[in-house]
Amino acid sequence: MDNKLDKNPDFEVLLNYLKQSSGYDFTGYKRGSLMRRFQHRMRQLAIENYQNYLQYLQAHSEECAFLFNTILINCSEFFRNSDYWDYLANNIIPQIIISKQPNEKIRVWSAGCATGQEVYTIIMLLAEVLGIEQYLQRVQIFATDIDEDALKQARKASYSHHEVASIHNKLLSKYFEQTEEHYIFCSKLLRTIVFGHHDLVRDAPMSKIDLLVCRNVLIYLKAETIATVLVRFHFALRDRGFLFLGKAEGLTNGSKIFIPISLKYRIFAKGEDLTLQDYLRIKPQIRNPVENNSLKFQPS
Ligand SMILES: C[S@@+](CC[C@H](N)C(=O)[O-])C[C@H]1O[C@@H](n2cnc3c(N)ncnc32)[C@H](O)[C@@H]1O
Repeated sequence: MDNKLDKNPDFEVLLNYLKQSSGYDFTGYKRGSLMRRFQHRMRQLAIENYQNYLQYLQAHSEECAFLFNTILINCSEFFRNSDYWDYLANNIIPQIIISKQPNEKIRVWSAGCATGQEVYTIIMLLAEVLGIEQYLQRVQIFATDIDEDALKQARKASYSHHEVASIHNKLLSKYFEQTEEHYIFCSKLLRTIVFGHHDLVRDAPMSKIDLLVCRNVLIYLKAETIATVLVRFHFALRDRGFLFLGKAEGLTNGSKIFIPISLKYRIFAKGEDLTLQDYLRIKPQIRNPVENNSLKFQPS
């Protein structure tokens, strides 16, 4: 289905225009769902075809922001698929802790963190195992997303009653301060997080990561785009680092750069070294990490 849709030339012109004019590159996203998102936005504007929408984008510079809000789906939940998080907490986090010296930082990257629920889920799990004092001394979290609006929400760390419903009462009262309308995540723990704008498809990855959590992001990408993102993830992880994907995501391209630890719970360990072919996949696109990260990253 995707192949057929890939052949809509007007849509491809539109994607290339956005790539050149906004720097956002959606050419590596699956066409079916991407086109549906564009059409949703076009219906709101009563625009019937991609050519007319391109003209509209060219004439209205503010439209890009509205479009991105429609394309980038930020839905998230605390402890989404809780049995997956249980597996991580019981089987993987202890391994990570044992593998580190007490004075060595444990580095975690939540890639595609959306509005922050995933980040705070990871923090609660680590703090429960390590204790809060040890957590503060030993853990560094990087939380990134391509969507600035979602990052703003994530930094606020403020959630409605409805949003915190999936958090166990004991954790909720320990890690959140309740105000009249919201629950706000413990400010002391926020200082271990560095939030930043980061495009998984284009930007240079983090480094020396022990646990890379990237859930429900790869589902939107085409197979060849996923392959380049996985090479970046391999770069990012330290030896024996772990990759935790979403329930609907797997690594099926036969690559040995990740080894399944639990196929059921979507957990993989860093595997074989990258080949020259892997390096060539990403080399032309990697930009200077200083240029990318130091300008865009902000501590919470
Ligand atoms: C459905 S949410 C997943 C949120 C969270 N990981 C979870 O599973 O609850 C997908 C997120 O991926 C982000 N995203 C999409 N493309 C991205 C890219 N190229 N680089 C970084 N983040 C991206 C979106 O902005 C959105 O916040």
